[in-house]
Amino acid sequence: MYQHVQAYAGDPILSLVETFQQDPRPNKISLAIGIYFDNDGKMPLPASVLAAEQQIGFGVKSYLPMEGHAGFRAEVAKLILGADNAALAQNRVAAVQTLGGSGALKLGADFIHRWFPQAKVYVSDPTWDNHRGIFEGAGFEVGTYPYYDAQTIGVKFDEMCDFFRRQPENTVVLLHPCCHNPTGVDLSAEQWDTVLNIVAERKLIPFMDIAYQGFGDTFESDAYAIRKAVALNLPLFASCSFSKNMSQYGQRVGALLVLAPTPEEAQLVLGQMKFSVRRIYSSPPAQGGLTAYHVLSNPELAAQWQAEVYEMRDRIRAMRQKLYDVLSARLPERDFSYFIKQRGMFSYTGLTVEQVHRLRDEFAIYVLDSGRLCVAGLNDGNIDMVADAMAAVFAA
Ligand code: LMR
Repeated sequence: MYQHVQAYAGDPILSLVETFQQDPRPNKISLAIGIYFDNDGKMPLPASVLAAEQQIGFGVKSYLPMEGHAGFRAEVAKLILGADNAALAQNRVAAVQTLGGSGALKLGADFIHRWFPQAKVYVSDPTWDNHRGIFEGAGFEVGTYPYYDAQTIGVKFDEMCDFFRRQPENTVVLLHPCCHNPTGVDLSAEQWDTVLNIVAERKLIPFMDIAYQGFGDTFESDAYAIRKAVALNLPLFASCSFSKNMSQYGQRVGALLVLAPTPEEAQLVLGQMKFSVRRIYSSPPAQGGLTAYHVLSNPELAAQWQAEVYEMRDRIRAMRQKLYDVLSARLPERDFSYFIKQRGMFSYTGLTVEQVHRLRDEFAIYVLDSGRLCVAGLNDGNIDMVADAMAAVFAA
């Protein structure tokens, strides 16, 4: 019956997690998936989020509307765009609660493909693997634009700009406003200004995926590119996720925001989003969205939550510093300063695929084949082992 069905080749991130789980070695360390672990190696639930969960309780929840919880949608729009953003007062933002950031990407991708069927999508080289998967799954041809420069461990900024200048109207460019996944290499505010002016001149569609707000710098500055895109009145799509910054991984809490030129067009967009949601999964899950709403709408809990996220950010920075210190001491002839310049959860380590496999086979340390390491998986208990092992494979 199913013999003709193609075997699934697996996912570069999630399949590696499965391999890790099956690894019997007791000292194994996973730095593969983008999950924040605390210094004890546990997935923490911020106290602000726990307080919100306790307020809501786990009693019966009715269906949410197709577009999600109204309060959640309003609060997320304020968090990402800024509470005083004129576009909100003008009702020009269509906001939908989604199944995590992936659900937001899928909903936006389906919408654009349906209403701009000629559009092509470009993602950064490299990007989070599933960006390509989600847009291809929506029917797009997906290409890459120049981004990461392995020589400088920076951005191929001029090449990126030249590339954008050559694209036709309505080309979709998928951008990471902060904490670039997988490299950790971000654009500066000045570079964003330049890029977004080109996006405006060429009439491109910026799709900004923000899954790590608060982990790069501040909630405000991490959203700089998004707010600038709104100020320039670009046809912005913004997908966001509360998986990491509220530890809502399994609850699937995210949102899609679309900036429209007029309130009437925002309603048209919202209507099509509802149509799409109804035909795929009807309505989003209630528990996580309600939790996020309670955190964001209560000024005290919201302030507490932001402070908790900044603690996570600072712990990640401390781990970057420690990795830099140990590796620099072991291999003084190499420059490891990129570890402290990169931002967010991830670091492109510069490890080759052979070195990655050595780490896995000899030391039971899991990083992605691309060399991406989740710095948020490091802690005082494992960092020396990881740094020693990395030094060994770098030195070979
Ligand atoms: C990651 O990049 O590891 C995370 O965003 C988890 C995922 O779904 O891939």
